[in-house]
Order: sequence, then structure tokens, then C-alpha cells
Amino acid sequence: MKILVTGGLGYIGSHTVVELQSAGFDVVIIDNLSNSKIEVLDKITQITGIKPGYFNFDLSNKTACEEFFSNNNNIDGIIHFAAYKAVGESVNKPLMYYRNNLESLMNIMDNMNIHNIANLVFSSSCTVYGQPDVLPVTEQAPRKQAESPYGNTKKMAEDIIQDTVYSSDLKAIALRYFNPVGAHPTALIGELPLGVPNNLMPFITQTAAGIREQLSVFGEDYDTADGTAIRDYIHVVDLAKAHIIAVKRLVEKNNKLDYEIFNIGTGNGYSVLEVVKSFERVTNTKLNYKIVGRREGDIEKVWANTDFANNELGWKAEKDIDEMTASAWKFQLALK
Ligand code: UD1
Repeated sequence: MKILVTGGLGYIGSHTVVELQSAGFDVVIIDNLSNSKIEVLDKITQITGIKPGYFNFDLSNKTACEEFFSNNNNIDGIIHFAAYKAVGESVNKPLMYYRNNLESLMNIMDNMNIHNIANLVFSSSCTVYGQPDVLPVTEQAPRKQAESPYGNTKKMAEDIIQDTVYSSDLKAIALRYFNPVGAHPTALIGELPLGVPNNLMPFITQTAAGIREQLSVFGEDYDTADGTAIRDYIHVVDLAKAHIIAVKRLVEKNNKLDYEIFNIGTGNGYSVLEVVKSFERVTNTKLNYKIVGRREGDIEKVWANTDFANNELGWKAEKDIDEMTASAWKFQLALK
């Protein structure tokens, strides 16, 4: 079985390629290195002993996309990660986000129809729920007005996939990720943010490594036990494994509906200060942080109801918060 992984050199993509190869799949990657490094290809090869196929082009380029699919006609399924993901940047450059994230998806699906590739796994996000009214949030919760163009591209992409599935032979699974963190146990691959990180975990590890002076904890007046915001952090290796199960479900035709949606989280919420405490515990260090005001656009709390993924996919997150912080730190140390 051959699986195309778009964005396969990125953070979640690279971990998924490793798990796919370990499960016996042939993998071909398309990645234009817009937010990744070519060295990741060697790291994947080092971990698995198998060099995946690799193509460098922009999937929003219709001609390049058509050419790729015409020359590679033995693909059984596609896991589509390639997208821009910086929330703040998307507010300033909305057209760049809509064009890149949606045109690439539509180009891929056009070619899936032309070349009879039936199976698509899409990386969606819990961002589509906004601040849910009921926690833990289930897949049936209403999707709310997106807080950013980035969030809106995820919501629109889900709609585009759903409409296309109903009008064609395409089968799709959207995985709504909660907050992916951590790194591969080898510390060869992990999250490589460009510039100043926006996300909590890379900011913590870079602060501990002395690259950033201090972590700002955004807000302590939320309606939570310690006043800081709560998220459902999930180890990237657990998240990667969910993709292997999802793509197998499609290629083996075990899906129950042509379009299915699963929450992929642990089901546990941790506050910002609980993540900091876990980091301090596993690294036996003190982190330099200060409490500042809330960050615009942040929600108060969200964590997943994972019953559907647990029961229907037979998938469950296995790694706890301390394994997440420990592996993120191990990766940070290996970067030096
Ligand atoms: C954000 C996006 C989400 C995206 C995800 C991964 C929003 C509303 N959501 O999630 O759509 O999929 O990134 O890129 O933007 N925090 C600090 N200090 C920091 C950084 C973060 O206190 O320096 C806090 C935040 O306020 C939040 C938590 O840590 O409470 C997690 O933040 P972050 O890692 O940025 O993820 P989200 O904002 O949840």
C-alpha cells in the first residue's frame, strides 16, 4: 500500500511518516519546505531505515499537482497535512492562508477524482469548536465562528471535503486534533518552529534552554482551578498513530460513513501552570515565567470527549503529560 503524505516533513507529518513506514506502508512525501527542513528526510530514514519518496513542489500550483498525479498513479490513500498554521499570521495575511490551505486541498481532491484515489485523511483542529458550551466536547458539538482565517480554513476545508464526498466516490476522515506536543523518543524529529514560537510547549523548552528569557503565561483570571487556561495536550506520537488507524480504516473499507470525523485528544485537560509544573518536575529545573494578561483570541478551556475514537477506531492516547514535556525537552537538548 502506498500512502501520499503532504507536508510529510513537518511536525505531525514527519511523525506520521515514521509510524506509516513502521506499519509497513510505502510512503511518498510532498513538501515544499515552507515550514520544514530537508534534513528531516534523513532523520526519518535514520529512524526507520527506509528512505521515503520525496517531491518538492507547491500543492496550490495546479499544473505541478496534475503532473505529480499523472506520474504517480499507484497511490492508495492520502494524508493531507500541508497547510499554513500560524494563527496570528493568518489574521494579517488572510488571502495567503485561504489560497494556500484551500487551493491545495481542492487541487488534491480534483486529482483524486481523476485518478480514482478514494481515500483521504485530513488534519483538522479542535479550533472549529471555538469555546464549546459543553465539556468534554464531542464531535456533534456545533462548530462556531472561527477566531482567525487559519481556523476558518480548517472549517471551510471540512465543508469542502464533506460536499465533495457526497458528490463523488471519495471517502474521507477528518481528525480534529487537540494540542499536539512532544517529540519522537529518538529526539531526531520534533517541533521546529521558525522564529519566536507562538505555541506553549516550544516556548517553554526554548526558555529553559536560554533561547528565550521568560515565558509569559497568558491570563490567570480564567474560570479554572488555578486561573490559567486549559487545553487537551496530546503526544505527537499518539496523534501520528491515529492517522495510521484512520488511513487503514479507509483502504480496508472499514469506514461506516463516507465522511467521518474524530476528536483526537487524551480527554484530559491541563492548565498552563500544570504544564509548566510537569516540565519543572521531569527536568528538575525552575522555569522563568511571569503571569501577564490574556492573549487575544484565546479560549478559556477545551478538552476532548474521545469516546468515538476510542470505541470506533480502537485508538487511545497512551502517553501522559510528563512524557510529553520530557520528550519535548529531550528534543530541544538534541538541537544544540
Ligand atoms: C493554537 C490555535 C489552534 C492551533 C494550535 C496549533 C488558537 C485559538 N488556537 O492553539 O487553532 O491548531 O495553536 O498551532 O490560536 N500560552 C501561554 N504562553 C505562551 C504560549 C501559550 O500562556 O507563550 C497559553 C495559551 O494562552 C493557551 C495555551 O498556552 O492557553 C496553549 O497555547 P498554544 O500552544 O498557542 O495553543 P492554542 O492557542 O490552544
